Amino acid sequence: MSNPTVNSDTPSTLPTDYQPPADALADKIILVTGAGDGIGRTAAMTYAAYGATVILLGRTLSKLELVYDAIEAAGHKQPAIYPMNLEGATEKDYRDMCNTLHDEFGRLDGILHNASILGDRTGIRNYAADTWQRVMQINVNAPFMMTQALLPLLEKPEHAAIVFTGSSVGRHGRAYWGAYAASKAATENMMQTLADELEEITTIRVNSINPGATRTAMRAVAYPAENPSELKTPEDHMPLYVYLMGQDSLKITGQCFNAQ
Ligand SMILES: NC(=O)c1ccc[n+]([C@@H]2O[C@H](COP(=O)([O-])OP(=O)(O)OC[C@H]3O[C@@H](n4cnc5c(N)ncnc54)[C@H](OP(=O)(O)O)[C@@H]3O)[C@@H](O)[C@H]2O)c1
Repeated sequence: MSNPTVNSDTPSTLPTDYQPPADALADKIILVTGAGDGIGRTAAMTYAAYGATVILLGRTLSKLELVYDAIEAAGHKQPAIYPMNLEGATEKDYRDMCNTLHDEFGRLDGILHNASILGDRTGIRNYAADTWQRVMQINVNAPFMMTQALLPLLEKPEHAAIVFTGSSVGRHGRAYWGAYAASKAATENMMQTLADELEEITTIRVNSINPGATRTAMRAVAYPAENPSELKTPEDHMPLYVYLMGQDSLKITGQCFNAQ
């Protein structure tokens, strides 16, 4: 397989024929945020299908339990559930999380920062400040605090991977996307900053994925008049989601990937 583009200012794409090997994530411990629905749900189930032990993090326990049951029913490695509402989580919660995961697993091979909220689709002039802060807390501050707290666990394996989730409106702002667009721009920049810092001193790689228009609940809220059957599904993006966690991407860091 040829390597994707390695210029961090140009979004990279994966060759369309890439198929991960069946054991791509064997024995890996991977944390997925927002694992109860949408892309995160599919990513968690896919990571499990490729051999990972998946830690399912989200705010709605009943949804996480359904994903847990589906993974068990498919005969994959038993996952773990970590209920957490990123909106109210504090530094102490993330330190506790690090201790819990250390006691349970001893290390972390990957984090998929996937959970996000859309916030209001309204102009900056009228954007509610409390909504702005909520979006920033969940989409940017939470992944920052979580990554910082969990770095000691990510330094334990030989090759860990951190994957953030961007969006087209984070690459270039667009009217009425408010805090969501700003949060995704911040996310991509945080990814690049962290990748640059870690490149010289660790083997941890840090990248981001822009899924593009994808058939999920979030997309339906953002574009209520759209026909969802014309959109790509989360499953369509999974080769890229697996690639960035697996052995085929060991030398890739600081890259923004477009899933489409
Ligand atoms: N779908 C698209 O077209 C598209 C396009 C570009 C980028 N993205 C990005 O892709 C990622 C996944 O999006 P999606 O479309 O799959 O969204 P989704 O269907 O709305 O799923 C988002 C997930 O995040 C969880 N979440 C939200 N707030 C949380 C909080 N405070 N604490 C913990 N978990 C929380 C949700 O939990 P609940 O289920 O409990 O609400 C849900 O499981 C997001 O980062 C999104 O910005 C999506």
